[in-house]
Amino acid sequence: MANRSAVLHAVNDLRIEERPIPAAGTGQVLVRVAAVGVCGSDVHYFEHGRIGSHLMRSPMILGHESAGHVVDVGEGVDPARIGQLVALEPGVPDRTCSECLAGRYNLCPNVVFLATPPVDGSMSQFVAFDASFAHVAPEGITAEQAAMAEPVSVAVWANRRGQVGPGDRVLVTGAGPIGNFVAQVARSFGASSVTISDLNPYRLAVARSMGFDARLPGEIEGEFDVAIECSGAAPVVLSSMRSLARAGRMVLVGMGADTAPIDVPVLQARELTVLGVFRYANCYPIALGLISSRKVDVLGVITHRFGLAESVRAMTLAHDEPESLKVVVEPQS
Ligand SMILES: NC(=O)c1ccc[n+]([C@@H]2O[C@H](COP(=O)([O-])OP(=O)(O)OC[C@H]3O[C@@H](n4cnc5c(N)ncnc54)[C@H](O)[C@@H]3O)[C@@H](O)[C@H]2O)c1
Ligand SMILES: [Zn+2]
Repeated sequence: MANRSAVLHAVNDLRIEERPIPAAGTGQVLVRVAAVGVCGSDVHYFEHGRIGSHLMRSPMILGHESAGHVVDVGEGVDPARIGQLVALEPGVPDRTCSECLAGRYNLCPNVVFLATPPVDGSMSQFVAFDASFAHVAPEGITAEQAAMAEPVSVAVWANRRGQVGPGDRVLVTGAGPIGNFVAQVARSFGASSVTISDLNPYRLAVARSMGFDARLPGEIEGEFDVAIECSGAAPVVLSSMRSLARAGRMVLVGMGADTAPIDVPVLQARELTVLGVFRYANCYPIALGLISSRKVDVLGVITHRFGLAESVRAMTLAHDEPESLKVVVEPQS
């Protein structure tokens, strides 16, 4: 048996190669991967070979939003896990540093994260993975739904950081996959209204069809308790914070703007709080629950599916197909 994998060799050079099937090590499960969501970071490595200081120095398998079935277990793992559908939480922390001990394992400086150089990702037919971070999917959901637990976890964490709760008026800037999931999670957390902005008419229409107040950036009116920035566009930070009510929370999820101006008198007079988001901690079980209860509709966000052989197309689609949201690669087809 082979282990076909999507290996990025250099900018714009993604090849399908056969790699050995890994063995499940101590504390690991071997997973037959069924679905891998394409993230902006995969596309960024494909186009630039680096993200900030994370530079690719050798070929790397892409992908980190994955789910599949357990086909073998290593030492110390219950063989009853064989057959389970699992969602792979891609960042495995060291569990021993002060951040891990404080419960903030997303801030572990020693985290091993799929498809972050030099660690291979999961756009492969088989992956050996830490059993504790291979979360059992609830009954009744599919592998591609389970794979969406990754971006939905980002959305859960962003809403927790902003303390979104019943009655909150929430503004989400950016209606990409992350912004859409953030809006859906805000609603499930009890937000009284969710307004979402984007420049892309298709993405606005999808958000509107899900019941959100979807508008162009220039058409945002009113006052909000929480603003969750998911576009990465620098000027959005200033305009969003000016629309916050007293004691409002500004949550920065989007990446791309290295610096952004803030309105200091507004921040002071209204006692605003600005919060960063780095991935998530302890969110996978919640995300899977929201997906299986249909409080978060992930199928409405998946617009394209490709077999492994077409993974180059999966990487380039985002740029030339405005009517797209989440792209999923199916390594077994
Ligand atoms: N902090 C984290 O841990 C974390 C995790 C995952 C993703 N991200 C970041 O979240 C962001 C969103 O991810 P995505 O996959 O949805 O990306 P995406 O690029 O698909 O979506 C961004 C959306 O913002 C829209 N946009 C651009 N300018 C805008 C403006 N001025 N106002 C409103 N919308 C505007 C774009 O049209 C696009 O639809 C990215 O920057 C990504 O890097 C952060
Ligand atoms: Zn740690």
